[in-house]
Amino acid sequence: SLVQKIIDAKELIETKSKLKPKIAIVLGSGLGLFVDCVENKTIIPYQDIPHFHSTTVEGHAGRLILGSIEDYPVIILQGRIHAYEGYEMEEVVFPIRVLASLGIDGLILTNAAGGINTQYNPGDLVCIGDHINLMGKNPLIGPNISEFGPRFPDMTHAYNLKYQSDLLEAAQSLSVKMSTGVYAGLLGPTYETPAEVRMLRVLGADMVGMSTVPETIAANHLGIKVCGISCITNMAAGIIDVRLRHEDIKEEALKVMDRFTSLLKLFIKKQKN
Ligand code: HPA
Repeated sequence: SLVQKIIDAKELIETKSKLKPKIAIVLGSGLGLFVDCVENKTIIPYQDIPHFHSTTVEGHAGRLILGSIEDYPVIILQGRIHAYEGYEMEEVVFPIRVLASLGIDGLILTNAAGGINTQYNPGDLVCIGDHINLMGKNPLIGPNISEFGPRFPDMTHAYNLKYQSDLLEAAQSLSVKMSTGVYAGLLGPTYETPAEVRMLRVLGADMVGMSTVPETIAANHLGIKVCGISCITNMAAGIIDVRLRHEDIKEEALKVMDRFTSLLKLFIKKQKN
C-alpha cells in the first residue's frame, strides 16, 4: 500500500541519518547548487530510497540531502519529478509524503518560472502568494487516505502567511527585490504559446511553471506549511521576441544562486525563533 511504501522510504532515510529535520526544501531547475551551503551533509541518491523515482530532467540531480543550515536541521530534495515525465500525480508527491512522515512542519518549494507580469525581469525572485492549478490533475484524486488529511482540504492559505512575511522581510533586509505573485501550474512539457500567456495574464497569473502545485496541494492536505519561491528565469513566451530553451533557463537560475542562497539562509534563520 501507499502508506507502507512511505514507511519503507522513511526507514531507509532514518538508517542513513539520525537528524530530525524541521524544514524541507525542494530545489527546482538550476537551483540545485544551493546544497553547497549545507553543513554536515548526508547525501542519499534517489535510487537508494525505496519507491523513489529518479528524475529524468537535466538540471535536476536526484539526491536527498540531510544536514544543517544556520544550525537548523533541514532535508533537501535536490531535483524533483514532474507529471510531464510521465509519472502519476501520486508519484510526483510521494517524496513530499515521505518528508512529512519524517516530522517536518514546513516545506520550502522553489522553482524556475516564466514571468507573465511585465513588471518582472529575468533573475527576479518572487514569493508565491497563491497558485492556479491548470494541470488538469490533482494529486488527491482517488480514495482519500485519512491518515494524511481530509477529503476536501482548505486552500485559503495554501502558501503560509507567516512564511510569506518572513521571506519578504528577509529579502528586504538583504536589499533583494522581491514581490508576491500568483503561480500558474501547467502540465508541460511544452512551454506556453503567446496566446496561452495572454490567457494566463487575464486569469490573474504573474508567473508560470510546470511544478510546485501538486506538492503544495499534498503538503496542505498533510497540514504542512508551505513557502514558495519562484526564480523568474525568462519572460514567458511572446512577451519579448526570444525562443525559450531549457539550457538558457538553467543558466539564468545559476546567476541568481548567491542572492537565492543568502535569502533562503536568512529565511531559515528566522524559523529558529
Ligand atoms: N514556462 C513554463 N515553465 C517554465 C518557464 C516558462 O516560461 N520558465 C521556466 N519554467
